[in-house]
Amino acid sequence: MDNITFITGANKGLGYETARRLTALGHTVILGARDPGRGQAAASRLGVRFVQIDVTDDASVRRAAADVEALEGRVDTLINNAGITGRAAAVPELTGADAELVFETNVISVVRVTNAFLPLLERSPTPAVINVSSGMGSQALTHDPGRVESTIAAPLYTASKAAVTMLTTQYAKAVPGVRFNAADPGYTATDLNGHSGHQTVNEGTDAIVSLATEDPSAGTGRFVDRVGPVAW
Ligand SMILES: NC(=O)c1ccc[n+]([C@@H]2O[C@H](COP(=O)([O-])OP(=O)(O)OC[C@H]3O[C@@H](n4cnc5c(N)ncnc54)[C@H](OP(=O)(O)O)[C@@H]3O)[C@@H](O)[C@H]2O)c1
Repeated sequence: MDNITFITGANKGLGYETARRLTALGHTVILGARDPGRGQAAASRLGVRFVQIDVTDDASVRRAAADVEALEGRVDTLINNAGITGRAAAVPELTGADAELVFETNVISVVRVTNAFLPLLERSPTPAVINVSSGMGSQALTHDPGRVESTIAAPLYTASKAAVTMLTTQYAKAVPGVRFNAADPGYTATDLNGHSGHQTVNEGTDAIVSLATEDPSAGTGRFVDRVGPVAW
């Protein structure tokens, strides 16, 4: 059966590459993006449907879910990809507003979008949610001197991604009828990091694409990168 896949923040970067790869693999991709111009342009390049969604805005998220309900009727795979690093400022200069924006976009939006789309996922025979987390949210990797994740101090982004991973495992426990897994793309050249990442977007989407295409028996509540399980 056709796999209907909704991706947030898919107008560029890892979200766009995921949309491109899954479309090529035969999924019916719905490309979510907050900006109608950038979103429609990206969707037109891939020949897929664009749906406006600002993940921080309740009304926009509700409209997006209603739009998909009206047209596609269900979602098989939801990919919570939209994310930000927040303002580039020295840590002592960070404000509550900086923290609110990062947590609102990266964490609270995962709850908002997932819960708005759950009724559509529950109409799928094999529903799956993929949360795009990060190795930067892993306690193990950020304490491993051999890993690049241990060399960077970014309190807001790392704490937000740790929360995304925990949301994933908690949803997996609470909603056993839907598979919830977290992906760590690895350090990938995108606008998010001024293209400093050492991986290509193709490499950076391997974990997401693998979670989106694996057999449902692969399980729920996992945290994986392109080579396998990630230490918590
Ligand atoms: N690149 C890496 O090395 C790396 C590593 C680990 C995890 N990740 C994660 O991967 C995900 C994608 O990042 P990326 O590297 O592809 O970054 P990117 O190129 O900057 O793309 C981020 C996407 O999120 C969208 N977005 C931001 N705020 C949004 C909002 N409120 N509503 C809807 N969309 C919103 C952006 O839309 P606009 O174009 O409108 O701003 C853009 O489409 C993020 O969750 C990031 O944390 C990235």
